[in-house]
Amino acid sequence: MSDQAEPGARTLPPSLFGRAGQAVARGLRVLAARLWASLWQVVAVAVIMAALAAVAHLPVALALTAFVSFVAAVVLLPRQDSDQAFNDALESPIALGRTASAMHVMAEALPDPLILLSPAGQVLFCNAPARGLFASLREGSHISSVIRTPEFLDAVSAAPGLGEAVTVSYAERVPVGRRMAATVAPLTQGTESGDILVLLRDLTEGERINQMRADFIANASHELRTPLASLRGFIETLQSSAKEDNGARERFLPIMADQASRMTRLIDALLSLSRVEMNAHVPPSDLVDLNDVMDHSKDTLEPLVSDMDFQLEVSRFPRPAMVLGDRDELVQVLQNLVHNALKYGDKGGKVRMEAKHIPSLGRQAGRYAIAVIDNGPGIAPEHLPRLTERFYRVDVASSREKGGTGLGLAIVKHILNRHRGELVIASEPGKGSTFTIMVNEAGGV
Ligand SMILES: Nc1ncnc2c1ncn2[C@@H]1O[C@H](COP(=O)(O)OP(=O)(O)OP(=O)(O)O)[C@@H](O)[C@H]1O
Ligand SMILES: [Mg+2]
Repeated sequence: MSDQAEPGARTLPPSLFGRAGQAVARGLRVLAARLWASLWQVVAVAVIMAALAAVAHLPVALALTAFVSFVAAVVLLPRQDSDQAFNDALESPIALGRTASAMHVMAEALPDPLILLSPAGQVLFCNAPARGLFASLREGSHISSVIRTPEFLDAVSAAPGLGEAVTVSYAERVPVGRRMAATVAPLTQGTESGDILVLLRDLTEGERINQMRADFIANASHELRTPLASLRGFIETLQSSAKEDNGARERFLPIMADQASRMTRLIDALLSLSRVEMNAHVPPSDLVDLNDVMDHSKDTLEPLVSDMDFQLEVSRFPRPAMVLGDRDELVQVLQNLVHNALKYGDKGGKVRMEAKHIPSLGRQAGRYAIAVIDNGPGIAPEHLPRLTERFYRVDVASSREKGGTGLGLAIVKHILNRHRGELVIASEPGKGSTFTIMVNEAGGV
């Protein structure tokens, strides 16, 4: 076993064929050990048979058969002394040393923190992730110097008597708030030491993602349920009390159409978000000119701009501004930003799209920036960090009234993430807001 332990730590698990080969090799070594242990008897029998053949005229075939049978018996019949010696050889200090170093390599290679404790809770060994998790973790110190949670310490002190692994989860507040799961396993099998193995798993990220998913579903259902409830209310009224009321029907139908299109907008936005998220790990590879993206966005927004009595000014890049991008997604980014400026800006206001090239500096590649600037009411600073969260709105009622779903900036952020770009928001209440997008120039680092 020792001979295989070291390569095994570095290579893939042996194939079935390889394992069969190892079993055959081990068997042959057992047979050789038995033969070696009975060597003098074998030699003695060989001499006796030769003498009998020479002196007593024993037929050679008979003498040979007797000798071969003796050797076969020696080799094939189990012998406690030689087999034990063979197994002892495997567990010799050298073999054990090799096994221990293979275990050490394996423990260090584990992605999760692993700590080996003495029965009294003293740290005997900790792998690299464990040292990364607790800066003050030292071999020889007590585990309670880094994990003080009573649930965990109780599990460690109960482990030697319990004889089986238990998993406890606990929360930590310092140095950062996180939730951990610790599997505490006493090493009772094959060892008398009673040492305790502790395997840690950080549950924080998984729980945060689960919470986000639950919040997202709750928010999306809530957003859909509101117009749906309103539609059902109107339908019931039209089926009962207002059945013959033409005036009521005339009033209700436009509101119903409005609610239906709100649902459509929400579903479109959700689909758009999920499409961008699905492609998040595939950076776009088309060469796109940002001047073309700005022109196209302006053309599609022009009717809305004049409907809302706004002015949209565009200052383009002086030269083609080539980036690796998805043209439709980049158009959607500018449309969402300009649409917000129109929606939340004061009627009759001005919106500017300003292009700027930021030359490369040190290791930072050259970038193209497009700022969408409005002179609307602006946004209070406490809202700025949360604006790109899904469904986050400064004023929910006013956003809904304007047909907002609260997903526009979340889509912008995800598209820019996919483009390895950035969104910077600056705003001063009463003076207006500036939403700047930045994307690396094509061919940059
Ligand atoms: N230019 C702006 N001026 C003032 N407030 C803004 C501006 N842009 C965004 N906001 C605020 O940020 C919030 C989030 O914007 P976002 O675009 O994500 O959602 P929305 O506009 O409400 O809905 P949607 O874009 O999905 O139709 C808005 O509800 C609004 O409160
Ligand atoms: Mg919006």
